[in-house]
Amino acid sequence: MPCFNWLLVATLLALAGSWNVVHADDKSERNCSTIPPYLPPTAVNTTLRLQALRETMRSLNVSAYIIPGTDAHLSEYIAQRDARMAYMTGFTGSAGTAVVTRNKAVLWTDSRYWVQAERQMDCNWELKRDVSISSITAWLIQEVTDPDGIAFDPFLLSIGTYESYRYNLSPANMVLKSLPDNMVDKIWIDRPPVPSDKLICLPDRIVDSLSSKISPFCHLRRHLVERSWRIKVEQIRSQMRDNPYKPTAVLLSALDETAWLFNMRGNDIPYNPFFYSYTLLTLDEIWLFVHIDRVTEEMKVYLNAGCNQTDCVQLIEYNQVRTMLKDYLTRPGVKVWIGTEYTNYALYELIISEEKSLTSDYSPVLTSKAVKDETEQRILRDAHVRDAVAVIQLLMWLERVVPEGKETEMTAAQFVNECRRKQNDSRGPSFETISASGPNAALAHYSPSNETSRKLTVTEMYLVDSGGQYLDGTTDITRTVHWGTPTDMQKEAFTRVLMGNIEISRTIFPSGTRGVYMEMLGRRALWEVGLNYGHGTGHGVGNYFGVHEWPVGFQSNNIPFREGMFTSIEPGYYKENDFGIRIEDVVVTVPAHNKYGNNYLTFETVSLVPYDKKLIDTSLMSPEQLQWLDTYYLTIRKLLGPELDRQGLTEEKEWMLKHTEPFQRSTAAGAVSSFSLTLTALATALIHNLL
Ligand SMILES: *[C@@H]1O[C@H](CO)[C@@H](O)[C@H](O)[C@H]1NC(C)=O
Ligand SMILES: *[C@@H]1O[C@H](CO)[C@@H](O)[C@H](O)[C@H]1NC(C)=O
Ligand SMILES: *[C@@H]1O[C@H](CO)[C@@H](O)[C@H](O)[C@H]1NC(C)=O
Ligand SMILES: *[C@@H]1O[C@H](CO)[C@@H](O)[C@H](O)[C@H]1NC(C)=O
Ligand SMILES: *[C@@H]1O[C@H](CO)[C@@H](O)[C@H](O)[C@H]1NC(C)=O
Ligand SMILES: *[C@@H]1O[C@H](CO)[C@@H](O)[C@H](O)[C@H]1NC(C)=O
Repeated sequence: MPCFNWLLVATLLALAGSWNVVHADDKSERNCSTIPPYLPPTAVNTTLRLQALRETMRSLNVSAYIIPGTDAHLSEYIAQRDARMAYMTGFTGSAGTAVVTRNKAVLWTDSRYWVQAERQMDCNWELKRDVSISSITAWLIQEVTDPDGIAFDPFLLSIGTYESYRYNLSPANMVLKSLPDNMVDKIWIDRPPVPSDKLICLPDRIVDSLSSKISPFCHLRRHLVERSWRIKVEQIRSQMRDNPYKPTAVLLSALDETAWLFNMRGNDIPYNPFFYSYTLLTLDEIWLFVHIDRVTEEMKVYLNAGCNQTDCVQLIEYNQVRTMLKDYLTRPGVKVWIGTEYTNYALYELIISEEKSLTSDYSPVLTSKAVKDETEQRILRDAHVRDAVAVIQLLMWLERVVPEGKETEMTAAQFVNECRRKQNDSRGPSFETISASGPNAALAHYSPSNETSRKLTVTEMYLVDSGGQYLDGTTDITRTVHWGTPTDMQKEAFTRVLMGNIEISRTIFPSGTRGVYMEMLGRRALWEVGLNYGHGTGHGVGNYFGVHEWPVGFQSNNIPFREGMFTSIEPGYYKENDFGIRIEDVVVTVPAHNKYGNNYLTFETVSLVPYDKKLIDTSLMSPEQLQWLDTYYLTIRKLLGPELDRQGLTEEKEWMLKHTEPFQRSTAAGAVSSFSLTLTALATALIHNLL
């Protein structure tokens, strides 16, 4: 799934104008200028909620209250109980910020969500078609007269976001008031509770399949987990001891950090197997902040809880994190190591005020987690083999049924989710499937709904970006296909996107190279003809974690590539109102053998689904690119063939073989035609010079 780098997106969206090609009929959006205002049935009446919030604001002397759309762990997906912005505004999009003053209520969101906001908000709310913090602060400076009247919940701002607010408000001599007790929570009637289901550690598959009655807890099976939590704790402590700044503790704030450290999982967040938690790991103690009633007796044994030695995990209630951190900071000589990208301001403000911090962009847990050990690499590859079976089942089925004209974006999405569910160790989708036909595929982050779902036809291109959670790994793959006759432009754009994917994949680079320096290889073939795309080029993935597993990837804030990292590679091209193309594979960094160097790496593709041959114009591709493609297809045959046999899927196997036939013959033709193209270009250049 593509990830949107804000700056880049903002620029490209500004250039491209509005992306909202799905024009709503008059009745589906609110109209606040009629008397009485027109509200569609999808709009939420927020009058009483706003009244209640404003009462609370008055009692606390707050003139303006900022309501961000995230949770205390800055999670990509949030649980219902954290959907405070949605509760107050009615708007359920995944990005936005709301601000309530005594007499106004305003939502800021980006162009992906303008139509949705007009459908879901009532006329208490004004929509600002912008996302920059400077536009929020400019508005606040105009509206709020009280210099310390702007309040926020520090749990819901990252350090960076807080700093942006502070920086933009300081010229007006305004300061933000940090109120750790969330005001929306105080007035939220029927706020969903914290889930009560018990936390798990990664189960033992042998025990599982022999008898479901035997508890899967407390046995780390080497096949799923190579490093027990004790080993991981020791590894992090040794990084603390080796650090020249001598931190005495590491504070973990992102949910995947604690989940990784203890090899534990939960079910609190949609699509992500995480549970509410923080960890303070010191040189001689381990504090795990969780909802303790969710920890079973077996889990307590597993965690060695109930003692306070170096290797005991002390369980502390989740909401005690600030109190306990404050306590810790009163000890002499302590220094807490935090990763600033994922620590919320509520914890950070305690540490900086005591000047007891050591900061890096990412905690040592996130950077350690980024490098997969041998077991993690093996099982993540395994997950991709099973995942490819599901995607091939979808593509084969669509090829057959689309001409009958009964299938839609929605039914295709349901089909692939169902195929994944049938695979071993499936734990559901890793994000909401993007199943998009024709112009819908040109919309950023589109997922079909009943209102927007298009019928699939042989005249439109189709893009499907989907992924699964499995006990052994998280997957994410995008394929774009055409069931009829693509235009020359579609073929060229697809081929150039594919060339970008291949060029990054086959690059050989010194270990320690940053992805951002390779990123343009993914765009080069597109840039040559004046095409581009407005999203990032790839993100890390993990072993049963989030589908966007930072800090691995191709963005400027991602860490250098080392052996054993997994990332997606996903260039694309989007033609507004027409079609969208994206080709996404997950790859792993492996040693590259080259002539003179050592310690060089390259990428090996672990997604195993062939591309639509019909859309590939081999004459545009270099012999090296075609060679790469043939080798990749051989790998698909080698790895997927036996799995399809094992699952008894003969039809799927035939489909796979047919779609992975080598391009060799085309290679020769390609070489000739690109040679003649070069001649033509030369001739043209000469003529231009002569004239
Ligand atoms: C709202 O209704 C008014 C009056 O009927 C109309 O002129 C205007 O175009 C409508 N605005 C929108 C956004 O539909
Ligand atoms: C919203 O709810 C309030 C309070 O119940 C009610 O007075 C008001 O008429 C409702 N607004 C609309 C547009 O239905
Ligand atoms: C609000 O302001 C009033 C008057 O300045 C003051 O008396 C009161 O203590 C303040 N309340 C809070 C909660 O800060
Ligand atoms: C550790 O536990 C022992 C026994 O329960 C207790 O006496 C001691 O005070 C504890 N130490 C700390 C640092 O909490
Ligand atoms: C799941 O795994 C079991 C045990 O390895 C195997 O017998 C079964 O065929 C697998 N099922 C699928 C759908 O792959
Ligand atoms: C979408 O349509 C299907 C079939 O008509 C229906 O079962 C489902 O409830 C609808 N979903 C929503 C969110 O309206």
